[in-house]
Amino acid sequence: MRIDIITVLPQLLESPFQHSILKRAIEKGIVEVNLINLRDYSTHKQKSVDDYAFGGGAGMVMGIEPIANCINALKAERQYDEVIYTSPDGETLNQKMANHLSTFKNIIILCGHYKGVDERVRQHLITREISIGDYVLSGGELAAAVICDSIIRLIPGAISDETSALTDSFQDNLLAPPVYTRPAEYNGWKVPDILLSGHNKNIEEWRHEQSIERTQKRRPDLLK
Ligand code: ADE
Repeated sequence: MRIDIITVLPQLLESPFQHSILKRAIEKGIVEVNLINLRDYSTHKQKSVDDYAFGGGAGMVMGIEPIANCINALKAERQYDEVIYTSPDGETLNQKMANHLSTFKNIIILCGHYKGVDERVRQHLITREISIGDYVLSGGELAAAVICDSIIRLIPGAISDETSALTDSFQDNLLAPPVYTRPAEYNGWKVPDILLSGHNKNIEEWRHEQSIERTQKRRPDLLK
């Protein structure tokens, strides 16, 4: 999979891809992530990419020209399955969406900034808008990092124990069951006996019951 991220702050996005699962996925060639500086596509002397809003009002708006130049240059090289814009007005990211996006070959993610982008970008150049939750971030970079993390870990080979991505919370609309490790007793607090029993079938049943109970208690909306 190839992910091209268009941003005015490429440095802000470097670190998330330099550690752990995402780093290894890139090293293994499972995914290629390119950070593209939108300013490189500005034709202004100062490399600006924003301007005042027509009609007045506070806040700058990202202009269509550098964005169109950048997206068109990328599209001239290959076909994209989706051109995503990160925005609090978008569809809220969930596991189902991450699963779907993880099957794509090439995607673009445009990180929003300032008061947002000229509406014509959204009308003509973007195929999907994604929000990571009902709150407003200073820019779309952290949202792009969250979207990429949720997708990349699902690509086969990204996680060494392939079953582990499948047993994540939300993967079957259930929260994950509780987990424990050594010591079996700490400060008088014991690990449930069943987990020490060695009966795999009983343990699986217990985990499933715990998942349902936890989902009923914490996220009953997922069971509907
Ligand atoms: N940009 C600003 N806030 C955002 C959010 N909640 N999700 C995605 N992009 C954003």
